[in-house]
Amino acid sequence: MTRDVKHFLQFKDLSREELAHLFARTGVIKQRFKRYQPYHPLADRTLAMIFEKSSTRTRLSFEAGMHQLGGAAIYLNTRDTQLGRGEPVEDAAEVISRMVDIVMIRTFEQEIIERFAAHSRVPVINGLTNEYHPCQILADIYTFIEHRGDIRGKTVAWVGDSNNMCNTWLQAAEVLDFNVHVSTPPGYEVEPERAGLFGTDHYEAFADPMEACKGADLVTTDVWTSMGFEAENAERMKAFADWQVDAEMMKVAKKDALFMHCLPAHRGEEVAAEVIDGPQSVVWDEAENRLHTQKALLEYLLLGRIEK
Ligand code: CP
Ligand code: NVA
Repeated sequence: MTRDVKHFLQFKDLSREELAHLFARTGVIKQRFKRYQPYHPLADRTLAMIFEKSSTRTRLSFEAGMHQLGGAAIYLNTRDTQLGRGEPVEDAAEVISRMVDIVMIRTFEQEIIERFAAHSRVPVINGLTNEYHPCQILADIYTFIEHRGDIRGKTVAWVGDSNNMCNTWLQAAEVLDFNVHVSTPPGYEVEPERAGLFGTDHYEAFADPMEACKGADLVTTDVWTSMGFEAENAERMKAFADWQVDAEMMKVAKKDALFMHCLPAHRGEEVAAEVIDGPQSVVWDEAENRLHTQKALLEYLLLGRIEK
């Protein structure tokens, strides 16, 4: 059973045109917030946030964001709910979606969130799965636009693991028409099908991370061991040793290239301290923009297009 509800489960669930609207709304909502202008369009609306993995930014930005828009957010984790004791996802979706107006889920397999959404009466937002992290890429692209303008036609260099962040960058490139240069160690290459690619025109794979970074407008990376893959940590540390984003890599990118990382970061592993703490890094803006882009997303999913 699938209900006619608008969800955000993968980046490609939003069209180029919807994204343009969201980015414009983000600007309006961010300015209002910075000027302490109250804006409460979600009064009496409730967000349920279900976490099966740890979080700082995602929890905080959704919880603070709902509050700032006049609504409320409820934090649930697997340990304290019946989901952790085997209640079927479909049953949980039926019940939870009768009590709240919108749901955000951070979980393991994408399939779990898809099953939840199929049984939900209300919009469901992907707050990270093993496969995707679409809310983060919304913030990343908004941050790029703030610093450098339109991302169309630009080149993003992805160095490291072909994980949920990498997959989502690849989807975003197809929707928004930019290019991604991906460099991963052997054995960790992108699997186009897993990345949910609906064309392959917008990415190129490079064996050498320096080659991937050449001429890039943005260099970005993420942890070598994502949540849920901790058992592979020792093996990954060895395999990824040459895939640290360092000053040499930034030097071959465009002179004004930005550096991004969704955080949390490990200095000395996937990124050198001089890069993440250096002048090209916009990681704090990127983290802050989670709040503003998600407020625009919540407004859009709950109220549709608001222009005022
Ligand atoms: N980037 C991100 O999603 O951070 P958290 O894991 O802290 O939510
Ligand atoms: N790829 C990381 C992102 C954390 C925000 C993970 O899934 O753990």
